[in-house]
Amino acid sequence: MQVSRMAGSLIGSEIIKIGNEVNDMIRKGEQICNLTIGDFDPSIFPIPAELQDKITRAYQSGHTNYPPANGMAALREAAATFTETRLGLAYSPTDFLVAGGSRPLIYATYLALVDPGDKVVFPVPSWNNNHYCHLSSAQAVMVETRPENNFMPTAEELAPHLAGATLLALCSPLNPTGTVFSKPDLEAICDLVLAENQRRQPGEKPLYLLYDQIYWLLTFGATEHYDPVNLRPALREYTIYIDGISKCLAATGVRVGYAFGPAEVIDKMKSILGHVGAWAPKAEQVATANYLPETTAVDAFLEQFKEKVQRSLDALHQGLQALKADGLPVDSMVPMGAIYLTAKLDVLGKIAPNGQVLSTTKELTSYLISEARLALVPFSAFGTDGAAPWFRMSVGGASLESIEAALPRLRTALQALR
Ligand SMILES: Cc1ncc(COP(=O)(O)O)c(C=O)c1O
Repeated sequence: MQVSRMAGSLIGSEIIKIGNEVNDMIRKGEQICNLTIGDFDPSIFPIPAELQDKITRAYQSGHTNYPPANGMAALREAAATFTETRLGLAYSPTDFLVAGGSRPLIYATYLALVDPGDKVVFPVPSWNNNHYCHLSSAQAVMVETRPENNFMPTAEELAPHLAGATLLALCSPLNPTGTVFSKPDLEAICDLVLAENQRRQPGEKPLYLLYDQIYWLLTFGATEHYDPVNLRPALREYTIYIDGISKCLAATGVRVGYAFGPAEVIDKMKSILGHVGAWAPKAEQVATANYLPETTAVDAFLEQFKEKVQRSLDALHQGLQALKADGLPVDSMVPMGAIYLTAKLDVLGKIAPNGQVLSTTKELTSYLISEARLALVPFSAFGTDGAAPWFRMSVGGASLESIEAALPRLRTALQALR
């Protein structure tokens, strides 16, 4: 079959491949604790009841035609007010663009800013920036981060790569690690972006910053979310924020995302997505516009939702720390945000009971699926070297009970390695 070079060289999602392996086993009747998907099982984490009710009512009221290309005015207003009151970022509703989830908005940011061959810098592990680079023919510049820094990039690591780059793509809280930027670390990166832009000649394309904060309402304990424009207001003309309800309202299938940033960039993104037709369904837009201003209901939802996510993350973290205390070569990072826990399973090179040497994280992943009935995603699926023993554990698709039941199986499977 003849397809475009771009389509022919697309790489599939590593996470979906692992997911298929898990689903095959589930179909055969196996009980698997599936911590692979960055999604929610609606029977464990449903969307807010009020939102569901408003969606149904919006359809019943006949909101079934095209929405405006930049999103319903009421939703852009609600999102602007929500962002200003909860995050302290004041943007006009005209600087907002609504789409069918946040993915089209990330893609539109790339297409609006990046010319083929332009440099796009992003830290790894990272979620999907490699694919957006491929789709936009960008030159991907991947910057390896370190566990000592919670896998968040530092200014020192990014600095050598920013000269001539068009886009720096950052995310906090980060998928896959569940860690966040500290204030001084993000400030230092913001200063780098400002300094790089000051160096550029008039008429030269600036260095833009894509800031994906889709998980920002899901932070735990004393963890705070920081963002570029609050820290450095001068970054306003260069920063495109990616946000939406998919994660913070457990509403991945509702498909309502929004971006905000400099009007001229947002306007181009609107034109691009208009041709693609990647709008959020009108009824979902109407419902979200009505739900976001209901502060009491939103707060009540977030409180119980975050508590439940945190309970699962804590159970995993404590479980892994107990294995570590018993001398097993495992570790985990304190959960800070999102729905992910970073786990270290330092057993590469060990031999399974069937004689197989587990030399890659992929082989270890398959071993854990079959022996511990526990499915994780190695960081290699997010661009990290396959020899690094780090894994993402996502709690959205598993009950606390299934997590608790999987921990002893993980212990047994690890103890069986020689
Ligand atoms: C960091 C990050 N950004 C964006 C998205 C996409 O969100 P949406 O479902 O709104 O397209 C995800 C989904 O996994 C994500 O992890």
